[in-house]
Amino acid sequence: MTQDELKQAVAKAAIEYVPDNCIVGVGTGSTANYFIDELARIKGRIDGAVASSEASAQRLKAHGIPVLDLNVVDELPVYVDGADEINHQLHMIKGGGAALTREKIVAAVAKQFICIADQSKLVDVLGTFPLPIEVIPMARSHVGREIVRLGGHPALREGVLTDNGNVIIDVHGMQIAQPVELEKQLDQIVGVVTNGLFAARRADVLLLGTAQGVRTYK
Ligand code: 5RP
Repeated sequence: MTQDELKQAVAKAAIEYVPDNCIVGVGTGSTANYFIDELARIKGRIDGAVASSEASAQRLKAHGIPVLDLNVVDELPVYVDGADEINHQLHMIKGGGAALTREKIVAAVAKQFICIADQSKLVDVLGTFPLPIEVIPMARSHVGREIVRLGGHPALREGVLTDNGNVIIDVHGMQIAQPVELEKQLDQIVGVVTNGLFAARRADVLLLGTAQGVRTYK
């Protein structure tokens, strides 16, 4: 199976976690796009969606799925999104698509986080994928220096502004043995909006696409 077929398979499997008559939290990226396409097939049985990016909102609307502002939603039973890396504790690195802040907000509200990923995303230790950090533009150099003090190698993601008008710094060279602690530590740096570690609020379920079928981890 190709990587795209694995992504499609997990997107399809995630539909099982979507209750009837609910608002669904929807992530960002190529795997989340497959999920949006699957959601379109069952749009008659959901009330709408909250999107974690402008791109996902556009795709949902193109399918005729109502997109709601998170502020008017009382309950979000489920949030479905991909990941750049996920470990066996279901801690993740996210933000490859620069949508990490809105993703973390929607994930914080949702009762269940269903991570959908192909097998290449499962790792023993997070950090081979550079850790994205969303930063207020005027704090870029300050945040970069602080990251160097923590042992990382920061690189500005050239030509990218987030949906919130901020920049992304990708941190290379960190073997992240303690994701919960590092997530907290990075959030303490003045000028950091969000970091791409999703550890304090990890995934509840991982649907992993493998050549042998979709594996479920909890
Ligand atoms: C976007 C994300 C995505 O979930 C992550 O980059 C995975 O993307 P893909 O499904 O395309 O591999 O965090 O900010």
